[in-house]
Amino acid sequence: MVHNDLRDWIDDLEERNDLKRITAEVDWNEEIGAITREISSQFGPALLFENIKGHRQTLCRRLFTNGTGTRERVCRLLGVSEKTSYREMVAIFKDRFAKPVKPITVSKGPVKENIVKGDAVDLFQFPVPKWNPHDGGRFIMTSASIVTKDPDTGILNAGTYRGMIGKKNTIGVLLAMTQGWGKHFSKYKNRGEEMPVAVVIGWDQTLFIAASTPVNHSEYELAGSLRGAPVELVKCETSDLLVPASAEIVLEGFVSADPKTFEPEGPWTVQRVPGLLCGT
Ligand SMILES: Cc1cc2nc3c(=O)[nH]c(=O)nc-3n(C[C@H](O)[C@H](O)[C@H](O)COP(=O)(O)O)c2cc1C
Repeated sequence: MVHNDLRDWIDDLEERNDLKRITAEVDWNEEIGAITREISSQFGPALLFENIKGHRQTLCRRLFTNGTGTRERVCRLLGVSEKTSYREMVAIFKDRFAKPVKPITVSKGPVKENIVKGDAVDLFQFPVPKWNPHDGGRFIMTSASIVTKDPDTGILNAGTYRGMIGKKNTIGVLLAMTQGWGKHFSKYKNRGEEMPVAVVIGWDQTLFIAASTPVNHSEYELAGSLRGAPVELVKCETSDLLVPASAEIVLEGFVSADPKTFEPEGPWTVQRVPGLLCGT
């Protein structure tokens, strides 16, 4: 079964009694991270935090975690039997990745419903957890897909790269030059240009699987092959990057090679279960 977006996936989980809504107040500061880690260790349900301290009135108020926390849930994302073993899944991945599905471009989508620009941008409106006691801050890019474009070929890359909120409109990142976006960044740097970036947070989690896998092919096409339907893409507001039309949240920005713009990031401590923000 194809999941159109994150909400569709959450509905599916709820119907199968594989989602727990957390209505008790929880703190973004280490509590959500601890709860998610514990439930994930027990192969428990996906979690939707609906009452987050300091975020009852903010633009974004809910956080979804542990969506890919069990083999059975990954099977459902792929539309195969929950009894499929890890060994069988390897063959399924190889088969699907051998048959990429091209995305389609559309002119509009729900991601455009609420647009915040300029000085109004405030990342602290999002209930981003400080996941672990020794983390350097609030990591907003965990299971995000970060989209960049090769300025020479126009080919898009989507990769999962961590990012920590700095100021209200900045995110510190670990930008390794060996990664997809690092290779793009080198080219923009040589041209003396900033690199446009779009951070996709919350969509069909097949994109997260493709973006966090080292593949030498368009992640949008591979997400299409995993979900069995093309990804519908829409153009960004501030660049010509393309993002899923029904993504929950897209952060648009630029990465500069000017050291004056650099910000500290990290530490990023123990391995964690990535979380997804849900818009209002
Ligand atoms: C939660 C999570 C966080 C990650 N953070 C980073 C990161 O900060 N930097 C990085 O280079 N790779 C990171 N990775 C690994 C990349 O997602 C992985 O190497 C992927 O293949 C990158 O895509 P690319 O091959 O298109 O560059 C992370 C993976 C996950 C699952």
